[in-house]
Amino acid sequence: MNHPLRRSNTRLTGAAITAAVVLAAACGGGSSDNTSMDQATETAQARNQTSLAAQGRHIFRFETFGDEAKWTDALRMHEVIRTSVDPLTAFSVGLKVDVDALPDTLKAALAAGTVDLHSPATTVALLKLDAVLGIKGAVETVNGVDTLTKVGITCALCHSTVDNSFAPNIGKRLDGWPNLDLNPGAIIALSPAISPTEKTALNSWGPGMYDPRHNIDGLSKPVVIPPAYGLAGVHSVTYTGDGNEIAYWNRYVAVTQMGGLGTFTEPRLNLSITNGTVDLVSSKLPALQAYQLSLNAPPAPAGSVDAAAAARGKLVFDGPGQCATCHSGTLFTDANSTLHPPADSVVEPETPSYASRSATKMYRTTPLRGLWQHAPYFHDGSAATLEDLGNIYNAKRSLGLTPQQITDLAQYLKSL
Ligand code: HEC
Ligand code: HEC
Repeated sequence: MNHPLRRSNTRLTGAAITAAVVLAAACGGGSSDNTSMDQATETAQARNQTSLAAQGRHIFRFETFGDEAKWTDALRMHEVIRTSVDPLTAFSVGLKVDVDALPDTLKAALAAGTVDLHSPATTVALLKLDAVLGIKGAVETVNGVDTLTKVGITCALCHSTVDNSFAPNIGKRLDGWPNLDLNPGAIIALSPAISPTEKTALNSWGPGMYDPRHNIDGLSKPVVIPPAYGLAGVHSVTYTGDGNEIAYWNRYVAVTQMGGLGTFTEPRLNLSITNGTVDLVSSKLPALQAYQLSLNAPPAPAGSVDAAAAARGKLVFDGPGQCATCHSGTLFTDANSTLHPPADSVVEPETPSYASRSATKMYRTTPLRGLWQHAPYFHDGSAATLEDLGNIYNAKRSLGLTPQQITDLAQYLKSL
């Protein structure tokens, strides 16, 4: 074993330790106590970002941070799932199945149409195989029957989908892609433990939308689930730039939304939430962040972009569209140097203003990445297509663009 102190005078280790300290601080500890030292040491010994990212992948897909306390003990979702969520119902609220988790016999039966998709027992069988993206179940034999006794959720629920290569909703995992079919509000509304008023609010959100502040401030106005890819180099996360690091927001979601065991504190929101008596979140944040930083935005499928139109569209973007004034640099955002007042978002004024509910009260210029993949656009999803988006900018900012320029601009955006 290499003792970290013995290696500390080599350059590589020094850099690794610096990186580790940065990561440890980003995970929210930031203190100079032993925990943060341990994390620094651990991270330095992790040898490289690749292995850290590999751990992060597992966390992203399978880690519940102990949030069964919320989804099982409080919301009793395991009861609903095992009694009334058959696979067709699960697909209808946007859940996806990882084909690589299915044994060949099951794949053959699915292909032959002999699997009962109207039976909740099939859902339980899929959960036992760890095949449902973002849902982690514990299945035990009770009176000889496979029974779902616990359920929790993971990051993969909202930020991954499948390529449908086996069948609709069944395919290979695409981590970091937002699941815009997912209807988190409708899923939570299945809980027997919440009031009719609350169910109405949750059912109003719709697919691809989630309000990550609803249970904090009581308001109900969801935002589009964004990609968790293409964030390397962007030091401002969320629509409102609440944190400088992905880990800031991961801690927020893990604790305040997923119900994981740990602490989130944010003086700007006068918020301090602690779930449970142990911390199952902090130690996982550096790896989780490394994994997300390793996820590149997917390029537009070959042949899907008209290259000549895109080239003309770039001239509109840089010229009369004035887009590059805010969507600047290789990441197409000025987020690393500035945030914008609410009026700089073309979807404001809105009621309630999403910015007003955030820590910064501002908007970040959204980095443009994989746009072809994740319509609708803007935090409220008000632009259904890239052409709609061009029309909205044209009208709101009085750009005087022609229909042809807007079509070209859309092709360019699709190519980014
Ligand atoms: C219930 C759905 C849901 C779950 C579960 C969830 N997220 Fe998110 N995530 C969202 C929504 C909605 C936003 C947009 C919030 C905002 O920007 O204000 C978001 C924002 C993000 C962002 C910021 C993206 C950007 O452009 O800056 C990242 C990164 C992210 N989530 C990663 C994660 C990770 C990692 C986990 C697990 C710890 C997780 N999310 C769990 C819905 C979810
Ligand atoms: C004054 C700064 C500014 C200018 C100029 C600007 N944008 Fe934006 N852009 C933003 C901000 C801020 C957001 C986030 C808005 C929101 O979601 O509320 C955004 C969001 C977007 C999005 C949504 C991305 C997503 O993933 O949802 C696209 C696409 C976009 N802008 C393209 C453009 C184009 C094309 C132009 C030129 C016609 C342009 N922008 C001009 C600041 C700007």
